[in-house]
Amino acid sequence: MDGEEEDDELERSREGLLGQVQSRVLILTVCAAGIGGTFQYGYNISIINAPTTYIQTFMNETWLERTGAPLENNMILLLWSFIVSVYPLGGLTGALVAGPMAIKLGRKTSLLVNNVFVIIAAILSGFSQMAKSFEMIMLSRFFTGINAGVSMNIQPMYLGESAPKKIRGAVALTSASFTALGLVLGQVFGISELLGGEESWPLLLASNVVPALIQMVTLPWLPESPRYLLIDRGDKESCISALRKLRGSDDLSSEIEEILAEQAAIKGQRAKKPWELFQNPAVRWQLISIIVLSSAMQLCGNDSMYFYAGYVFREAGIPYDKIQYVIIGTGCCELITAVTCNMIIEHAGRKLLILGGYSFMAVWAIVFMVALSQQSQISWMPYLSMVCIFAYILSFGIGPAGVTGILPTEIFDQMSRPAAYMICGSLLWFNLFLTGMAFPFIVMISWNLLLLAFVLGMGGSFQYGLQV
Ligand SMILES: *[C@@H]1O[C@H](CO)[C@@H](O)[C@H](O)[C@H]1NC(C)=O
Repeated sequence: MDGEEEDDELERSREGLLGQVQSRVLILTVCAAGIGGTFQYGYNISIINAPTTYIQTFMNETWLERTGAPLENNMILLLWSFIVSVYPLGGLTGALVAGPMAIKLGRKTSLLVNNVFVIIAAILSGFSQMAKSFEMIMLSRFFTGINAGVSMNIQPMYLGESAPKKIRGAVALTSASFTALGLVLGQVFGISELLGGEESWPLLLASNVVPALIQMVTLPWLPESPRYLLIDRGDKESCISALRKLRGSDDLSSEIEEILAEQAAIKGQRAKKPWELFQNPAVRWQLISIIVLSSAMQLCGNDSMYFYAGYVFREAGIPYDKIQYVIIGTGCCELITAVTCNMIIEHAGRKLLILGGYSFMAVWAIVFMVALSQQSQISWMPYLSMVCIFAYILSFGIGPAGVTGILPTEIFDQMSRPAAYMICGSLLWFNLFLTGMAFPFIVMISWNLLLLAFVLGMGGSFQYGLQV
């Protein structure tokens, strides 16, 4: 009897988790798309933090050599925040080309072609010191941004379309886990014992070529999105063969019927343009939701914090020699919560995770403000500040970080999806640009940033709550 019960138990657990991801191919697809995709987004955000002072010195010296006069401190800070922010500008460009690219080339091919940008970027940054040109670093960051912009949009689309409906959310959400993994690894390689030393920063900046190469040798072996093949291309043969590989079974009839039904429903339509979505009253609420959420995601300052993590913890009063390890802790927090979010999203639901996440962030932002204002009076306050930053990141990671990116896949149909991603990607990057540019100046004026974040985070969650 016991044995039977155990068998039942086993059966059920297999159905619950593994059963849904029976196919190894789907897991491999998730990994191959992720490593050259949103992993790069996270990695390139966090590697720029470690070499801050070295690159600033490099700019100063280069300028001195060229003109005979050193750069002023404010000028250096401005140039630095430009180097940091040109990355989201590239991302914005990437987000704009991602939609047409995904339609013309297909999801998988776009991701593959996308690696060209990273390779160019790595060459530029790798040789910038040798060429005595900090402009090359800026250009390199721009190309890195394009890569991230493209993959941030296409990867969730590709994965969401490739996964079985039941676990579509969770599979698309792996994008956030790969972002967090990239953040952590970028931080780890950025410590001074590895690539974060005075001499090795060009190598650190160019190291993003490695994930690109990994994707280029793995992704070609995996199938294209079956929905794209059938709905956009009308290629039923390839769709069936892709599905067979992805599901690891031959019982595909119900799923193909469902895709055919969607194809029939949108027959005669072509992929929509972003402005057409704005003209369509039927999708207004969906549109407003993704607009609010993708703006709030960056305006809360979490991602730009990683650019300038060193500044933040210095302002929070953490001893200099401990900062680089504390920084790795922040990335780990986001990784842990991203993975947790992945596991609970199908049970907890999107709305709870978003609202809960933003509410907690607001609470921690208030505590942080209090802690910072007491910093000079009470000796253990810096540690409370640190706890607040961690808690802020944890709250961000559990909901807003991941859910924001997958909503367009879930609430728009095949014809509107690329346009929806274009809109939400542009907002996301534009806001990252704004916060990235302003961050170091705001940190200098100290804790007003968190007040700002609090207001915006709160506003974002409120508006979302009102709509849905
Ligand atoms: C820039 O270089 C000048 C001259 O070497 C130096 O006095 C100044 O402190 C440097 N500024 C920074 C921010 O490193």
